[in-house]
Amino acid sequence: MGGGLSRHELAAAVSEAGGLGTIAVGGAVAIARELAAARALTGQPLAVNILLPFARRDWFEAAASADVVVTFWGKPRRRTPGVWLHQCGSLAEARTAHAAGADAVIVQGVEAGGHVRGVTPAMELFERIAGALPGGYPLLLAGGIATREDVARALGAGAVAAVAGTRFLLSEESRAHPEYRKRLLAAERTLLTELFGAGWPASHRVIANAATEHWLGRDPRGPRLNRTLNRLLAPAVRYVPAGMQGRMARAQTPGSRLLTPLGPTDDGPDNLIDAGALYAGETVARIDSVRPAAELVGALTP
Ligand SMILES: Cc1cc2nc3c(=O)[nH]c(=O)nc-3n(C[C@H](O)[C@H](O)[C@H](O)COP(=O)(O)O)c2cc1C
Repeated sequence: MGGGLSRHELAAAVSEAGGLGTIAVGGAVAIARELAAARALTGQPLAVNILLPFARRDWFEAAASADVVVTFWGKPRRRTPGVWLHQCGSLAEARTAHAAGADAVIVQGVEAGGHVRGVTPAMELFERIAGALPGGYPLLLAGGIATREDVARALGAGAVAAVAGTRFLLSEESRAHPEYRKRLLAAERTLLTELFGAGWPASHRVIANAATEHWLGRDPRGPRLNRTLNRLLAPAVRYVPAGMQGRMARAQTPGSRLLTPLGPTDDGPDNLIDAGALYAGETVARIDSVRPAAELVGALTP
């Protein structure tokens, strides 16, 4: 979970409990720092996630010492020598990742939280991909995983592992802002939108806040003008230096036409609660507690 929602505390706790914890931060320095901090907490394997629209060469150099590198949202291509997974939202993308030498693919269903790559429910897409790629090629399933029964269903369908985001957003170790957690615990439904698309014009699943109330009238994707501006300005916004991006995020209000993809972290600006993306998957309706990550790994393991 990017934007610093999943850092060393959560990744190490998940790995230490027998899962594979994933660090998701931007920038080579932050990747190296979080990986070193997680290594100090656990001797178990750790993953680093890299968002391809933002990645630069030195991010891969920093991530190369992780046990697993997971890439998302872009042309799958091997960039590190170790174990490499690519998260996919369609059969075509899974075929490309397989052909590019990915060691496994994560099949992401449309019910997932955060950025949503495809339009098909996880189980349906999983069956389609499993039927098309060579037998024995490892597939993981993401989207809709919040209980042991969900994991058992994924494994029963042939997945080698289940991937959970939203459930761990509501762990003690996630870096979600306390008010963001409170809203997640109260949420019953999610929205699939393109509203928070400055720098990354793409579909994402969130819960409602003042920004979505302000902008999402007729079209859940957001007004056409906002989406056009996001598309046109993406290459420029993406290369705005980190410090200026932070200032942009702090200045953001629910009525801003350009809304960045940053979510509210416990050390980030408070205005992102109502002016930022409150990412969540459909499972949010079934989650009513914040628990230690180790307890969650145990509760999810069949
Ligand atoms: C808050 C949040 C942030 C996310 N950020 C990323 C990310 O940076 N990179 C990525 O590959 N996937 C990201 N995802 C998507 C997850 O990899 C995964 O597909 C999703 O969490 C699975 O669905 P679930 O949320 O229902 O468990 C994010 C998901 C959430 C909930």
